[in-house]
Amino acid sequence: MALLSYTILFLIPLITTFLARTFFSKTRPQTRHLPPGPLALPIIGHMHLFSSSPHHVLCKLAQRYGPIISLRLGSVPHVVVSSPEAAREFLRTHELAFSSRPQSFTNHYLGYGGHGFAFSPYGPYWKFMRKLCMSELLSGRSLGNLLPIRREEMHTFLLLLSRASDGVKAVNVSEELKLMVGNVISRMSMSRRCYGTEAEGVEIGGLVDEVSKLLMALNVGDFIRLFRDMDLQGLGKRMKVTHKRFDEIMEEIVREHEEKKEKDGVKDLMDILLEISEDESAEMKLKKEHIKAFIRDIFVAGTATTALGMEWTLSELIKNPRIIKRARDEIDSVVGKNRVVEESDIPNLPYIQAIVKETLRLHPTDSIILRESIEDCKINGYDIPAKTGLFINIWAIGRDPNYWENPLEFLPERFIDDNGRAQIDLRGQHYHFLPFGSGRRGCPGKTLAVQLIVTTIAAMIQCFKLKIDGNDEEEGGPIDMTVAPGLTLYRAQPLVCIPVARLDPLPLVAS
Ligand code: HEM
Ligand SMILES: *[C@@H]1O[C@H](CO)[C@@H](O)[C@H](O)[C@H]1NC(C)=O
Repeated sequence: MALLSYTILFLIPLITTFLARTFFSKTRPQTRHLPPGPLALPIIGHMHLFSSSPHHVLCKLAQRYGPIISLRLGSVPHVVVSSPEAAREFLRTHELAFSSRPQSFTNHYLGYGGHGFAFSPYGPYWKFMRKLCMSELLSGRSLGNLLPIRREEMHTFLLLLSRASDGVKAVNVSEELKLMVGNVISRMSMSRRCYGTEAEGVEIGGLVDEVSKLLMALNVGDFIRLFRDMDLQGLGKRMKVTHKRFDEIMEEIVREHEEKKEKDGVKDLMDILLEISEDESAEMKLKKEHIKAFIRDIFVAGTATTALGMEWTLSELIKNPRIIKRARDEIDSVVGKNRVVEESDIPNLPYIQAIVKETLRLHPTDSIILRESIEDCKINGYDIPAKTGLFINIWAIGRDPNYWENPLEFLPERFIDDNGRAQIDLRGQHYHFLPFGSGRRGCPGKTLAVQLIVTTIAAMIQCFKLKIDGNDEEEGGPIDMTVAPGLTLYRAQPLVCIPVARLDPLPLVAS
């Protein structure tokens, strides 16, 4: 009896809410037709879904609710997109409407008021900086001019492996790849190595890692007004410390640039930005703060992503002896053994290109693309209001069984045709394969990233036999593929490699 009355006590409010809901939803004029989605929790909405591996959680939800889902983070509406068809609608049909990015408190602070680049709102400032970045750093011409930097940094890396290649010494490849990519970007943008340079007082590696983590963290205060000033996760405190140190180092480098300006003719990205900032008649007034934030954003967007692309490629190769053998045969027949592979060999290495694409399909290092709508729009019959956050789950899209046969298998052959020619490019027009996003906000660094990854991996397997995490490449074997929590697909464990010399790069790169 007691039990029953309790049950009734519970049922009354439930039934009333249920009735009230059906009643109101029938009578209240439906102004907006939002995509379906799971029930939201009070106050936090769906923020709990983002605690560990959002790409997994959102992929499961898509299986239940469909390719376009509504979620709320706190009080802010979001849409999750999980199929190639839906991605095409948002990224192509309604491209302009979704060309902005959500503005977070950390980004505002670290970007001296939202004046970075990768996370800037859509508008004239972003357009100006994007054009500049494309023409002065990432265009085909700039990349060509800056080739010697990439070659030197890769050779430095190969020589380091070579010195350790007695078959006994272990190298923390995760660390060394990060240093190499960081120094490439750092020399390309400001003519200075800033990774592994603690001794010179300009080390930014750890700071860039920390800034990336802060920018990719979901800050409760951004979504729930009540908590805005409370810094519940301690992000604000970390941000201030990192920002201050980063700023000091960048000030130092700016000063160097200002001092040496008159002396030689070779201009790097920072020189060009400083020139614009001094030019009264420039189209866009740049402050020194903006320059620092802009360059920092290029590090944040370009270093970890590219280094991780290399790490995941190595991880997949060491699991697959058949594939590493075919890759090495390709290099030996195209490049031979009398010189080290070069970027200019890439067009003749379709199989290695396919390996890298297949890696980015399974491990897109930015697992989810973040955008924000700038106007109301209607997509597939759903109303999407302005200022809605957009998550495009490119991890899920790359594993969509409607588009990929045996999606979980690592099969580079999908990316070459029967004649061995490369297939499915990276321009973002194949909506089932979007590791670099698509359209005007798509990754401007993809050519650089692919050149670096393909050449480095090719050179590593050309010069060395690899033993990674205790697995010899000829036998293959289990390797820990655990992904660390978060939106960026970091490996949970660093890759430790024991290189065994196959041909000695020293005389080859010295000549
Ligand atoms: C494997 C390596 C890389 C991957 C997987 C990657 C992936 C991405 C993705 C998914 C986006 C968002 C695209 C979108 O919203 O449609 C992006 C944006 C961006 N990436 Fe990359 N990226 C890589 C390397 C690089 C490199 C090497 C650089 C520069 C040196 C770079 C610079 C940027 C910048 C500046 C943005 C923001 C662009 C904007 O908002 O206009 N990325 N990247
Ligand atoms: C290897 O490098 C990674 C990435 O920099 C670092 O997090 C890790 O602690 C290093 N591990 C070892 C065993 O040195």
